[in-house]
Amino acid sequence: MVLIAPSILSADFSKLGDEIKAVEKAGADWIHIDVMDGHFVPNITIGPVVVSKIRKTSKIFFDVHLMIEKPIKYVEQFAKAGADLITVHAEACDNLKSIINKIKENNCKAGVSINPETSIDAIKNIIKDVDLVLIMSVHPGFGGQSFIEDVLPKIKQAKKLIDKTNRNIFLEVDGGINNKNAKTVKQNGANVLVAGNYVFSSKDYKKAIQLLKEYL
Ligand code: DX5
Ligand code: ZN
Repeated sequence: MVLIAPSILSADFSKLGDEIKAVEKAGADWIHIDVMDGHFVPNITIGPVVVSKIRKTSKIFFDVHLMIEKPIKYVEQFAKAGADLITVHAEACDNLKSIINKIKENNCKAGVSINPETSIDAIKNIIKDVDLVLIMSVHPGFGGQSFIEDVLPKIKQAKKLIDKTNRNIFLEVDGGINNKNAKTVKQNGANVLVAGNYVFSSKDYKKAIQLLKEYL
């Protein structure tokens, strides 16, 4: 089964709680929350305070994607705010093992992500310890960008490494997902698809999510 995780980056932030309820009702499996610090990526979004407020609006699984420098400093705060899963970038961590452990100690599932230009080698030793691998299919920082086809072989490589572990590890792809490329992404091994612009720019969230699932 493939899960759809709408990214609230493209939601209407003036009514975030309602937007989350709406996509949940429309069939979203997870909510993808993009946290940006203006350093690791050239954009700034939200922090733990906002996550704790939207936590009160829904029980849906919160998939928190940290695009920040020194993420280890914030794990506890995001866990307390209500994250179910916390993903950190390999490019932002000196010691991936210790941060993955810290996320787990805080009772969250732990994910690791790599940017389009980062080789799978950066995470091959940590895959056995994580619950999710996130392959970026755009340069992180902004919603609404085009899917970078060159990452498809890397999704396949990640799938192979995951299969070798014999563990149920999610393989998530994030950036530029739409009804035209969802099937290819799935065929390469992904089982969680993040979709921001595609879902939130549509007039009918239910139809958009259904269309994404139909193509899988
Ligand atoms: C990009 C974010 C993505 C983004 C996806 O930095 O990590 O989650 O919001 O949005 P779309 O689907 O619009 O590319
Ligand atoms: Zn993201």
